[in-house]
Amino acid sequence: MLSSEQELREDIVRFGALLYNRGLAHGSAGNLSVQLDDGSILVTPTNSSLGFLTPEQISKVSPDGDLLAGDPPSKEAFFHLAVYDSRPDAKAIVHLHSTHAVAVSCLCHQDTGNVLPALTAYQVIRVGRLPLLPYYRPGDRKLAEAVRTAARDHRAMLLANHGPIVSGRTLAEAVNAYEELEETAKLFFILGDRPVSLLTCEAIDDLEATFKS
Ligand code: 13P
Repeated sequence: MLSSEQELREDIVRFGALLYNRGLAHGSAGNLSVQLDDGSILVTPTNSSLGFLTPEQISKVSPDGDLLAGDPPSKEAFFHLAVYDSRPDAKAIVHLHSTHAVAVSCLCHQDTGNVLPALTAYQVIRVGRLPLLPYYRPGDRKLAEAVRTAARDHRAMLLANHGPIVSGRTLAEAVNAYEELEETAKLFFILGDRPVSLLTCEAIDDLEATFKS
């Protein structure tokens, strides 16, 4: 059943508070969005705390980036639009600055095509490969092209020295995938330099074939 715009506004408020209360969003960092049937999006307002949103203040933005209703939108609404443009299945996006994922984004990586080793089955199922995109100043429009390209083949991507962008078919799905990513980044640091038994290529292929989304 399709959700009404009001229900989606309430979902953003509810999930914003959940992410804030779980410590995944801090201060006024991060932004959430959902796409409506006409291609416009509901996105969190710029400089708002995800813990203290109201349904009325959520910004409604046209596919061209124009504000249609609500408070001034996130300065990153443009990269949310780029993901929706490239990924027809994506109907919701979570972008946060959670500590462990951001720490991974600050490391030097040899293979920027996938910056987290395959540690667990749920990482493969919910997150998939995680490419690192180059650093851009928050709000820099050049980021849109990099995001648009990466989103074609990836549910999740990591902005260097910044944080992840994760999409899903619903806001709940995007939030679950984001949390899985943050927990995987935490495991990565807990394991540190110890010898790790990674998932084999066969195991990854089997998970991808079995849980194809
Ligand atoms: P906004 O407050 O404009 O959404 O920006 C916050 C942010 O997370 C920047 O990366």
